[in-house]
Amino acid sequence: MKKITIAIDGFSSCGKSTMAKDLAREIGYIYIDSGAMYRAVTLYSLQQGIFGDNGIDEERLRREMGQIRIAFQLNADTGRPDTYLNGVNVEQQIRTMEVSSHVSPVAALPFVREALVKLQQEMGRQKGIVMDGRDIGTTVFPDAELKVFVTASPEIRAQRRYEELKAKGEQADLQEILENVKQRDYIDQHREVSPLRKADDALLLDNSHLTIQEQKEWLFEQFNRLTQTAE
Ligand code: DC
Repeated sequence: MKKITIAIDGFSSCGKSTMAKDLAREIGYIYIDSGAMYRAVTLYSLQQGIFGDNGIDEERLRREMGQIRIAFQLNADTGRPDTYLNGVNVEQQIRTMEVSSHVSPVAALPFVREALVKLQQEMGRQKGIVMDGRDIGTTVFPDAELKVFVTASPEIRAQRRYEELKAKGEQADLQEILENVKQRDYIDQHREVSPLRKADDALLLDNSHLTIQEQKEWLFEQFNRLTQTAE
């Protein structure tokens, strides 16, 4: 069967990556979490002291972008790809609140987006890829055969993120998470370069009241419908 490109965009913490990963595993496609790449650049900036009292030192990050190598490697235990930053597995570190609360300004920098979009397009050249993010259907793969835009209310997304952090044994404050979710929504939708928006030809999925299983089934149905009619 001819492989296609699948773009899944939407707001933060709305379960995009869970459904994207599961679909990719089931249909034998590569899964790429583009948010992990923005998070890796943010972690690098935190580790190297590029964030100062006055925010991010853009010029320094611009100079150092060429030294930041991001790659994914399948984790045999989880069956999912782990994120590597300059050869080090940073899958856990990029998911902390510290990274979450610094990532939006990094993702708003045009030179960061340019470098990462280029890398993402290279990763998808062979098709057979499921990529999730904010601008995959609009900028990275505007010709993707299947585009989905996922949304859910900020309160529900904050609750999900809270439970996720708790389950990992991390400190979590629901109110703080809700503020972070709303703030990220705002920055993601209002930045100048590739703001978060639904591509005209994307299918809309509001999963506020769907279980993970239900949304997985919905996505799988869309894939089947498309690939079977394309045969
Ligand atoms: O999906 P996430 O929460 O891991 O994304 C982290 C941040 O990166 C979020 O603030 C939005 C940004 N992002 C982006 O601007 N473009 C993408 N394609 C993916 C993520």
